Amino acid sequence: MEKKMTDSIRYQFLLRILPAFFFTSVIFLLILTSFELNTAKEAKRELAKQKVENLALLLTEPVWQLSNTLSSNIMSATIEAHEVTCVVLEQDSEITPIIRKGVCKEADGVETFSSPIIYTNQGRARQLGKVSIQMSITNDWKAISRKILPLIILSVILFVLTVVISLLAFRSTILAPLAHVSYSLRHYQKTGTRNPVDWKTNDELGLLIQEYNNSLQHQQQTENQLETAKHDAEKARHDAEMALNNLKQAQKSLVQAEKMASLGSLVAGIAHEVNTPLGNSLTIATTITEATKDISKDIEAGALRKSVLENYIHSMNEASTILERNLHNAADQIRKFKQVAVDQTSEKRRKFDLRLLLDEVLYTLYPQVKHSPYDIKAIGPEGILMNSYPGQLGQIITNCFNNTILHGFEGKESGELTFSVNQLDDEWASLIIEDNGCGMPPEELKKAFDPFYTTKLGQGGSGLGLNLVYNLTTSLLGGSVSISSVVGQGLKLTFKIPLNAPSSH
Ligand SMILES: Nc1ncnc2c1ncn2[C@@H]1O[C@H](COP(=O)(O)OP(=O)(O)OP(=O)(O)O)[C@@H](O)[C@H]1O
Ligand SMILES: [Mg+2]
Repeated sequence: MEKKMTDSIRYQFLLRILPAFFFTSVIFLLILTSFELNTAKEAKRELAKQKVENLALLLTEPVWQLSNTLSSNIMSATIEAHEVTCVVLEQDSEITPIIRKGVCKEADGVETFSSPIIYTNQGRARQLGKVSIQMSITNDWKAISRKILPLIILSVILFVLTVVISLLAFRSTILAPLAHVSYSLRHYQKTGTRNPVDWKTNDELGLLIQEYNNSLQHQQQTENQLETAKHDAEKARHDAEMALNNLKQAQKSLVQAEKMASLGSLVAGIAHEVNTPLGNSLTIATTITEATKDISKDIEAGALRKSVLENYIHSMNEASTILERNLHNAADQIRKFKQVAVDQTSEKRRKFDLRLLLDEVLYTLYPQVKHSPYDIKAIGPEGILMNSYPGQLGQIITNCFNNTILHGFEGKESGELTFSVNQLDDEWASLIIEDNGCGMPPEELKKAFDPFYTTKLGQGGSGLGLNLVYNLTTSLLGGSVSISSVVGQGLKLTFKIPLNAPSSH
C-alpha cells in the first residue's frame, strides 16, 4: 500500500500542534505590542506633564513681572519642541490677555495638559494663572517596531525550536517504539518468526509493548501446542488409517475364509449325499462282477444251462437299472452341488428363478440337519425371475441358516426355520427368513449387523456373518434388510431385493 505523507503520524501531530503554537505566539506578541503601546503613551503623557510643569515654573517670573514678551518667547521656544502643537497661557490678572502659541484644536490623539502657575513669596503661595499645552499622544510606530521586532524574531526562533524539540521528543517517545513494533510485525509476516520488541520504558507505550511481547510469547506457545497437537493428530490419523487398512485386510481374509468354510461344508455335504448312491452302485457292481465270474466258469466248463443264463440276464437287467438310477442320482446331486459351489465361489451375475435357487441352496444345507429335530421349510411360488447374483444370495441364505442352527436353536429340542420368497411388484422380490429360536434382546439386536459383533467369540464365531449379509444385500444386490426379534420367540430377517441387480457391479 502506498504511504502518503499526510498519513504519517508525524504530519498529523504537526498539523494539530503547529496552529496551536502559532496562535499562541501571535496572541503573545499582540498582548506584548498592546502593552508596549500603552507604556509608550503613558511615557508621553508623563513627559507632557513634566513639560507643562516646567513651563509653569519658567513662566512664573515673567507672569509675575507681567512681561508678556518674555512669556511669549518662552512659549514659542516650547512650541518649537517637536510634539507640542499649542501652548495657552491664561493669567488671573484681568489686564493681561490669554496668550496662545501654535495651532490649538481638538483632534484624535491630541491631549491637553495644564499646570497652575504659582508664585511663592515669603512663604505665601499665590496662583497667577494656568498654562496648558496640547500634545499629540499618538504612537510612534517606528520606535515601537524597533522594540517589538526582536521580540518577533525571538518568538519565531522559539516557535521553530519548540517545533523541532517537540518533533524530536515525539520521535524518541512515540515514533521509535512504534517503529520497533512495526519492524517486529513485518519480520513475522516475512519469516513467520515472532521477535519480541526490545523497548523498556515505564510509560504507556512501554506497557503496551510489554503487553505485545507477552501476547507474542503466548501466541508462540499456543502455536507450538497447536503444532504438536496437529502432529499428534496426523500421527493418530496415520495410525488409524493403518489400523483400518489392516482391519479391511483381516475382514477380507475372514470373508474369504468364510467362503472357503462354506465350500468345505458343501464338500462334506456332497460327500455325504453322494456316498449312498455310490455305495449302492459299488454293491451292485460287485454283485455283477460275482455273477459274471460264476457264469464265465459255467461257460468254460461247458455246463451253461439255459435257466442259469436267463436268470443271469434277468438279474443283470435289474442290476443295471438300479445302477443307472443310483449313478443318475449321484450325478444329479453332483450337478446341484456344483452349481451352488460355482455360484458361491464366483461373483457372477446370471438369470435364475428365486424359488429354485432357494431349493438348490437348501438342498446343499439339508445334510447338516438331516438327523436333527429341526424343521426347515421353503415357501413361495416358482417363476420369480431374477437377474442378479445367485452365489451371493446363496451366501446370505447359508449364513442365516447357520446362524439359526448355531445361535437360534442352541440347546433346543426342536425348531422351525422358514424361508419364504415372494414377488412384490415388477421390480422387487422379498425374502423372509424366520425362526422360532431364542431370538436376540434389543440391545444386542442393535449391534447385529456390526462387523465383529458375536456372542460366540472364541467358539468359532467371528461376527462377520450378518455384516456380510448386510453388505451383500445393500451393495451388490441393491436391496435392503431389516432385523426384528422377540426374545424367546425367534428372529426374523426381511429382505427386499430388486429383480434386476444394479448394473454398477
Ligand atoms: N437366528 C439367530 N438367533 C439368535 N441369535 C442370532 C441369530 N443370528 C445371529 N444371532 C446373534 O447375532 C450374532 C452375530 O451373528 P453373526 O452371524 O454376525 O456372527 P456369528 O454367527 O457369531 O459369527 P460368524 O457368522 O462370523 O461365524 C451372533 O453371535 C448371535 O449372537
Ligand atoms: Mg453367523
